[in-house]
Amino acid sequence: MSAVRISPATRVDGDVTVPGDKSISHRALIVGALARGRSYAGNVSPAADVQSTAACLRACGVWVRDFTDGRIAVEGSGPGESLQSPAGPLDCGNSGTTMRLLSGALAGHDCEALLDGDASLRRRPMARVTEPLEAMGASVHTAAGGTPPLEVHGRRRLNAINWEMSVASAQVKSAILLAALSGDGPTTVIEPRATRDHTERLLRLCGVSVRTESGGITLTPGPVAPFGLRVPGDISSAAFFLALAAARPGWRIRCLGVGLNHGRTGIIDVLRAMGADVGVEAEDAGDDSEPSGIVEVRGAPLHGATITSELTVRCIDELPVIAVLATQADGVTQIRDAAELRTKESDRLTETVNGLRAFGATCEVNDDGLVITGPVQLKAAHVDSHGDHRLAMAWGVAAALCDPPSGASVIEGGDAAAVSYPPFFDELMRVIGA
Ligand code: S3P
Repeated sequence: MSAVRISPATRVDGDVTVPGDKSISHRALIVGALARGRSYAGNVSPAADVQSTAACLRACGVWVRDFTDGRIAVEGSGPGESLQSPAGPLDCGNSGTTMRLLSGALAGHDCEALLDGDASLRRRPMARVTEPLEAMGASVHTAAGGTPPLEVHGRRRLNAINWEMSVASAQVKSAILLAALSGDGPTTVIEPRATRDHTERLLRLCGVSVRTESGGITLTPGPVAPFGLRVPGDISSAAFFLALAAARPGWRIRCLGVGLNHGRTGIIDVLRAMGADVGVEAEDAGDDSEPSGIVEVRGAPLHGATITSELTVRCIDELPVIAVLATQADGVTQIRDAAELRTKESDRLTETVNGLRAFGATCEVNDDGLVITGPVQLKAAHVDSHGDHRLAMAWGVAAALCDPPSGASVIEGGDAAAVSYPPFFDELMRVIGA
């Protein structure tokens, strides 16, 4: 892992075009593999995680063609027909989305596969996905403790189920919906809190009946038609620049072509709640495609905010950079209902507090959240990403917000950013004029 040095910003102003959305890119590949025929997607994310999904699908016999400029073509043979047993273990790398969504897709095929990943992925909880897939009639085993590797023995005809999820997880919901394509009737998934609905939207685009009602999401199996899709920019990547611009009056960032799925726009609500000036210009979208638009943030004097419940779910991946921004806000910011952060690429509650304290912030961690008191003048620090891409990028923003005389910060393992946003630090340096 290599270190990155970032100096404090003196001015932030500019337009940023972030790469295609990582969540939607995974789904474009996997749903494309399950559809019957050839699907096309543009602006697919260059993230290492998405490359993991493409490589695993190829190992299962799927034709996936990478074009330049993020264009892909993928060809499948329909649910139950598309995936074959791979010759060796499937390497999901650092990607929980790859492992959980693929386990659902594989469960609905007559095949056997072993899904493994790096040291971080090997620590992440998988029982949440193996339990519903076993209830559907697949056989899915984890290591002791419910962690990877996962051994999946699928069946091309599964039982339809009604499943009440205990955690709000779009990955678990998606795994069940993908398996449900091979179900013997309609499957219903009930979420404790609404999560991003990218899988539902894409399956509807393929002509599959997916109904979302207050009682849950019901998928009725049927043919899956191929699709053409342009992936919008990743709001989770844009969030780092939006948060940076929000920190100082006079600073400004405009992110173009960013995805505005309601399940992902919590960052906009949080920035507004803290007092930032946020403009959103939505572009036209059809009923089943993903909404997108321009998001512009102008810095303003900020105050603390409380992030809880549904809002926490809608900005779950943005919480580390929100915590960085909270150090610049007047008063107390509370992040609650965020115990899930302990099960991400690192224990993000503990590591966020450790990193923030290294920059001189005042913050506490509790069972399911963080309490940050500001404003504090951050000082350059030597911090570690712990191999977690979102921490690497959050520390980049913290470094840019440091007191200029304190000098440059060093982020060990900064290259972890490539997991979701390979050129992040180049873009950050451009925006801060470094
Ligand atoms: C994702 C869902 C979320 C999120 C992750 C991507 C997805 O995870 O944190 O980065 O693409 O479905 P959970 O489903 O574990 O909440």
